[in-house]
Amino acid sequence: MIRLPSVRQALRLHRPRYPSSSCYSYATMTSTDHAIAPPAPESTLADVSAPAVPTKYGKVVLAPMVRSGQLATRLLSLKYGADIVWGPETIDKSLIGCERVENPKTGCVDYVRTGLIFRACPSREKSKFIFQMGTAAPDTAVAAAKIIAQDVSGIDVNSGCPKPFSTHAGMGAALLKDIPRLLSILHALVANVGLSTPYALPISVKIRLMPTVEETHSLITSLCKTGISKLTLHCRTPPMRPRERAIRDALTGAARICKEAGVEFFVNGDVKNWDDAQQVIKEYDIQGGAMIAIAAESNPSCFIPNHLGGPKPWREVVTEYMLTAMSVENPISNTKFCILNMVPGKNEMHKVLSRAKTYRDLCDALDLECTFPEELDLGTLKTQRVKAQEEKEAQLQAEREERQEKLAEFKRKKAEESEKQAEESNKRIKVDAVERSNTTPVSAAVAELAATDMLLPGGGGAAVEAVV
Ligand SMILES: Cc1cc2nc3c(=O)[nH]c(=O)nc-3n(C[C@H](O)[C@H](O)[C@H](O)COP(=O)(O)O)c2cc1C
Repeated sequence: MIRLPSVRQALRLHRPRYPSSSCYSYATMTSTDHAIAPPAPESTLADVSAPAVPTKYGKVVLAPMVRSGQLATRLLSLKYGADIVWGPETIDKSLIGCERVENPKTGCVDYVRTGLIFRACPSREKSKFIFQMGTAAPDTAVAAAKIIAQDVSGIDVNSGCPKPFSTHAGMGAALLKDIPRLLSILHALVANVGLSTPYALPISVKIRLMPTVEETHSLITSLCKTGISKLTLHCRTPPMRPRERAIRDALTGAARICKEAGVEFFVNGDVKNWDDAQQVIKEYDIQGGAMIAIAAESNPSCFIPNHLGGPKPWREVVTEYMLTAMSVENPISNTKFCILNMVPGKNEMHKVLSRAKTYRDLCDALDLECTFPEELDLGTLKTQRVKAQEEKEAQLQAEREERQEKLAEFKRKKAEESEKQAEESNKRIKVDAVERSNTTPVSAAVAELAATDMLLPGGGGAAVEAVV
């Protein structure tokens, strides 16, 4: 019978092992202005039918995404050509009271309270990084903005997230139902940390569609008057699901209002990649750019224009992601979540990776050298809890076995002792019998019997005596 290699083995057959010092290491990662860079010389010479370099009509940026938009995804998106990256919504109150901790090894900055609240890497992303906050009040928004100011190049207010974790406290899409509050938050940010303050931060807002085109335009007009620098319109209403088609009816008007107010406008919703973005930007005359979420979540290389090769295959992107994640010591739970979004669900590798508990497991499956510090590679908190439980159970089992062994030993000794005692009492009876036989004829008879081993412990002697 011919044994076929396992899927994992088969995958390995085609893969090189990338050491950390390879061309994939961060030392070689450059910033991203490749969008309008000339094609590589050999492709120009060799392939006359290469696509013409299209005009770049506007920026293509990474959307804010809880979980998926953490540091590693942002850095990789920048590497692949995103012009700006938005961070995941972070609640203003969770930032207030945080300690800012620099990690000299990775160059990252952690905002920490009881746990890690937010990680940024100013040396690699600051000039293109916009911090998005969830807020419901001007004072907490300003306080949080001041805390994070030195590590970011813009503050964005989430005014579109329909999820209960955002809306329950009056944040996200709840602000679209309380426009005076939204305006007061933006006014406060502009006045306290905006471009004309020592913090010099551009303030922006991300909204969803209002119930009608007119209401959407009216809201945008009001928002532009607060002094904001950027505005993103997610072309869905709050109740719309992510898979429902984005509605672009309000786009031309929204773009025009922002253009007239000098506010950079970004379209969001169903933009698939760099080339798609340029088409939308051109079609709706957008002075700003297009923002990508889900397409970037499943392939951060969607920022590479087609004339430069276009999006890369998942295998290469996952490798790059892993190297990026290890270089910033990205938490394993986030790394695993993000790469599982990139590997096609039907691929065997998806199953293998979903079983991984540590960076070593992930690297082993992907045939990569693991550079994640071993002492930190303990898996997710859940894994750690499961491991601790398993260790406790193993210890209890060992203690149970030890107790059982001791009990068995005790019983064995007890049995030995009673055997000895029986022997001794037997001997004593014989001796007594001999002694008595020396004095009377009866005892002589008993002694004779005892000598022939007819006297047994526990009554045999008495019986003999009675007979006699
Ligand atoms: C996993 C995930 C997390 C998201 N988190 C946020 C967020 O933190 N803040 C926000 O304003 N929008 C968030 N969104 C919405 C996206 O930014 C974007 O508006 C939406 O997905 C539409 O863009 P798309 O059609 O390109 O996916 C999130 C979307 C996804 C898929």
